Amino acid sequence: MPPLSNLATRDVETLVHPFINLARFRDSGPLIIERGQGVTVYDTDGKAYIEAMAGLWCTALGYGNEELVETAAAQMRKLSFAHLFTGKSHDAAIELAEKLKEIAPVPISKVFFCNSGSEANDSQVKLVWYLNNALGRPRKKKIISRMKAYHGVTVVAASLTGLPGNQRDFDLPLSGFLHTTCPQAYRFAHDGESEEAFATRLAGELDALIVKEGADTVAAFIAEPVMGAGGVIVPPKTYYEKIMAVCAKHDVFMIDDEVICGFGRLGTMFGCEKLYFRPHSISIAKAMSSAYLPIAGVMIPEAMYQALLEESKKIGVFAHGFTYGGHPVSAAVALKAIEIYVRDRIVETGAARAPQFQARLAALNAHPLVGEARGLGLIGGIELVADKKTKRSFAPAHAVGARAVAFAEAEGLIVRSVAGDVITLCPPLIIGAEEVDELFDRLTRALDRTLDWATRERLALE
Ligand SMILES: Cc1ncc(COP(=O)(O)O)c(C=O)c1O
Repeated sequence: MPPLSNLATRDVETLVHPFINLARFRDSGPLIIERGQGVTVYDTDGKAYIEAMAGLWCTALGYGNEELVETAAAQMRKLSFAHLFTGKSHDAAIELAEKLKEIAPVPISKVFFCNSGSEANDSQVKLVWYLNNALGRPRKKKIISRMKAYHGVTVVAASLTGLPGNQRDFDLPLSGFLHTTCPQAYRFAHDGESEEAFATRLAGELDALIVKEGADTVAAFIAEPVMGAGGVIVPPKTYYEKIMAVCAKHDVFMIDDEVICGFGRLGTMFGCEKLYFRPHSISIAKAMSSAYLPIAGVMIPEAMYQALLEESKKIGVFAHGFTYGGHPVSAAVALKAIEIYVRDRIVETGAARAPQFQARLAALNAHPLVGEARGLGLIGGIELVADKKTKRSFAPAHAVGARAVAFAEAEGLIVRSVAGDVITLCPPLIIGAEEVDELFDRLTRALDRTLDWATRERLALE
């Protein structure tokens, strides 16, 4: 390993970084990003990278958008902070909530603002619990999520998450949080099972789980339209219509986590529109402000709002909220970002770019390291395997995905490796056609270098 730069050494001595092997990181040090423009970011040596992950699935409008910068500065000058507690308000939050109601994919009564996807999902669970207390069914409290789901890292959100790393040694999940089968055909469909048959089986398993637990104890089901951090998993055809029917049958509230899919990622403003389902409530974050500032929210239906209203009347207060929930600068920036999505037809532009992106992605299926390359809209996942025929994964200790990420960085490309060597792609929606080609050219070279390395290291490839 080359010696760390001065700034990198200071980093290692001062920061705890999320989602990394902290011991190995002490030797490798960080990749320090200094600035960004469009879909490109630059490190402290001036080296350029295509940011093919839009940061963390969030900078949909790319970097250096002057309109968003100006909006933030103007709002800071006008009113740098105001909160929504105890009846206070401000125009930025009101206007953003109105805009969100206007573009919502299902009828929405109110919006509750918070600061992160984890807080949104935590709030969802608290709201559902509060709802069922209001409705006089205090036993109906369990929440069903899915294996490989990612819903965040706070205590409740990490309990919803279905990835072992987020739970192991954190004493999670909490009791009352259950996980049903992941809708990933590549790993979990039976041999010869059609997409529809797989979807039918998954819905049957959800139904059986609810019956086993007792429908009177199950409050909600939560799902990302397309799973992101679990490895970019697109559910089989007819999945949601069958899952929604099971939820309806047992009076189970359906929470749609649109933290990644919301605001255009799949080619529609919300992911549920692309996958044809109508959830009860929706979590939003990330691209809502194109990640220029933190902001998140829960979109609440009228029936839930009425129950919250009644319950707060009864107990005297709706005691939930965050200091920075609906922060005026974040709200103003989010409102501007949504204005840009609509005015500049960003969602349609992303959708128009998707066939090229998906074609280049699908071509990677021919690569010797790739078990499956999959995606929808402008999101993709490339599952690296040791054996294409048996789908055998590499041993985690070999960290093949991390190696591919490092080769990609050497090629000037930022990607991520998640959930068992799945390389993920989620570029800003503003990416141009030539940039898509450049992204995949660099990625292909990185995969070739990973293959050479794996062969040299004799990591059994068949
Ligand atoms: C689908 C989904 N839900 C929730 C979260 C958590 O969001 P945050 O990191 O803002 O807490 C994420 C983050 O990646 C996510 O992808």
